Amino acid sequence: MDKSAGFPLALALLVFAPLCFCQNNNGGKLYPQFYDHCCPKASEIVKSIVAKAVAQEARTAASLLRLHFHDCFVKGCDASILLDSSGKILSEKRSNPNRNSARKFEVLDEIKSAIEKECPNTVSCADILALAARDSTVLTGGPSWEVPLGRRDSLGASLSGSNNDIPAPNNTFQTILTKFKRQGLDIVDLVALSGSHTIGNARCTSFRQRLYNQSGNGQPDYTLDPSYAAQLRKGCPRSGGDQNLFFLDFVSPTKFDNSYFKNLLAYKGLLNSDQILVTSSAQSKELVQKYAENVELFFEQFAKSMVKMGNISPLTGSRGEIRKHCRRINKS
Ligand code: HEM
Repeated sequence: MDKSAGFPLALALLVFAPLCFCQNNNGGKLYPQFYDHCCPKASEIVKSIVAKAVAQEARTAASLLRLHFHDCFVKGCDASILLDSSGKILSEKRSNPNRNSARKFEVLDEIKSAIEKECPNTVSCADILALAARDSTVLTGGPSWEVPLGRRDSLGASLSGSNNDIPAPNNTFQTILTKFKRQGLDIVDLVALSGSHTIGNARCTSFRQRLYNQSGNGQPDYTLDPSYAAQLRKGCPRSGGDQNLFFLDFVSPTKFDNSYFKNLLAYKGLLNSDQILVTSSAQSKELVQKYAENVELFFEQFAKSMVKMGNISPLTGSRGEIRKHCRRINKS
């Protein structure tokens, strides 16, 4: 056999190898072109499946955007939220912020399976989630941004992290700001990212306290507009109806715009954590006013803050793995 026949083959492998797998050669820093050579169609595939899912149900955009947030605040943006319970893994889906609330995991399954067909073992679930959050924002009328990529997927989940690190709607302003600061985010990020509540829904149980017994004295929250409160009480009774749904932005619930901030200035924020941006801190109130006045300013800051949030402790290099299925680690 002619041994020299092996040479062109080796050369071809050397030349084309970089096309077949992706490696972070950027000192662990994420960058938007990460999949340009190893999976050039990745972002198109995400976009088309998100678009289809949002066309079927507008709320999907909100649900996907929130999943990225709930992922990033727990051990970083590593798709830990997508893991189901199995073996030693206790799923974050069971945590207080996520139970009966986090949704649309099946859209990520569909995207992952389409991307695995195109380029197996290459694109992380964490990156898919970051892209889906951006596409969801754009599809509902919000700003676009380049998504830095190259995250890898976690080998575990943190149920306690999910319970403790994600802000709760009845946390004080200070507690919420502290939870953001722990992630390297500041008050500007807090106000801009809260603007996500311009789309999507919340359950009665997430704000009931404001309607009937805000501070333990049987009185409603006096910072809630009385006629809006009366409206909300109709669908959110003193007891029962926990899962009844309400728009976070009653003016334009499926449009990503700045009416959320306008509502806050009219004392028509749905969650306590929304309204306190105006009632608990002069600095955050000023930001709310600016975003209510100037939608471009809000969009610009939202995009910046999303990139910042997406950069929370990513796994890169040889840490973590590229999951085959977003719901389970590869060797389980
Ligand atoms: C500032 C602290 C925050 C608190 C306390 C908070 C709390 C909540 C609560 C309680 C709900 C309703 C859940 C339910 O009743 O089922 C909700 C929904 C939502 N949150 Fe937040 N959130 C915060 C920040 C964020 C951030 C930073 C984002 C995104 C970057 C976000 C995106 C959303 C979206 C889009 C929805 C609607 C989800 C849907 O309709 O499925 N939130 N949030």
